[in-house]
Amino acid sequence: REVVVLEEVDSTQRVARELAEGGAPEGTIVLARVQLGGKGRLGREWGSPPGGLWMSLVLRPEFEARFAPRITQISAVAVARALIGLGVPAKVKWPNDVLVGGRKVCGILAESSLRPTPAGTLLEYVLLGIGLNVNVEPEDLVVFGDRATTVRESLGREVDLLDPLARILRELETGLPDARSFSRTRKDLRSLSHTLGRQVRVARSGGAVEGLAVDITAEGALVLQTEGGMVELFEGDVENLR
Ligand code: BTN
Repeated sequence: REVVVLEEVDSTQRVARELAEGGAPEGTIVLARVQLGGKGRLGREWGSPPGGLWMSLVLRPEFEARFAPRITQISAVAVARALIGLGVPAKVKWPNDVLVGGRKVCGILAESSLRPTPAGTLLEYVLLGIGLNVNVEPEDLVVFGDRATTVRESLGREVDLLDPLARILRELETGLPDARSFSRTRKDLRSLSHTLGRQVRVARSGGAVEGLAVDITAEGALVLQTEGGMVELFEGDVENLR
């Protein structure tokens, strides 16, 4: 596969988009040692100092656009499984953060380019951005402060970036084909969830909702038991209340 390794870049997502627009094949990887303008979800900044695994993957999935949100969840599971394989007790915070000991170790950003066709809206490509704090110095975890952690902190040793990289790619290879049925991912999301069973507040475009997180549906939605009944959420930012 095509792998682009950069010393310093604004964002690997930007480079991956240019490559994808130029026809780069499925599986193309862009890696950078440092990102100066790393992007997080919801327009946030993503601190990307040396020592992290900052990568974007070009995916060309052959399924309908409505399955796109599943890719982020499949990826969160893939990263969590990769970390568990390394000996790190990783959990998934719905919909797509990976935590260790309640602190964020990895963020995932999937950006899709859609193509309308007579047969429905297809995904032209998905830029899967994964930011994993591997050996980042604690004082460099600028954005999240003490709410972030690193793989090194969990294991008590430096980790060769190629180790989590290879594990994540392997997990994605087995995980992505599950996008249609979602059954394996749903099972993993339930067992690896840092969100289920907790009282949470979910901030989203339609306003915040509070409730007990009781399940993740076959669609990947989070089910909250609220005072007004059961609510299914498809997006949002989860905050644990206790
Ligand atoms: C988040 O949790 O908000 C998502 C963070 C995604 C960060 C990764 S690092 C590699 C890729 N390039 C970017 O600019 N962002 C993603």
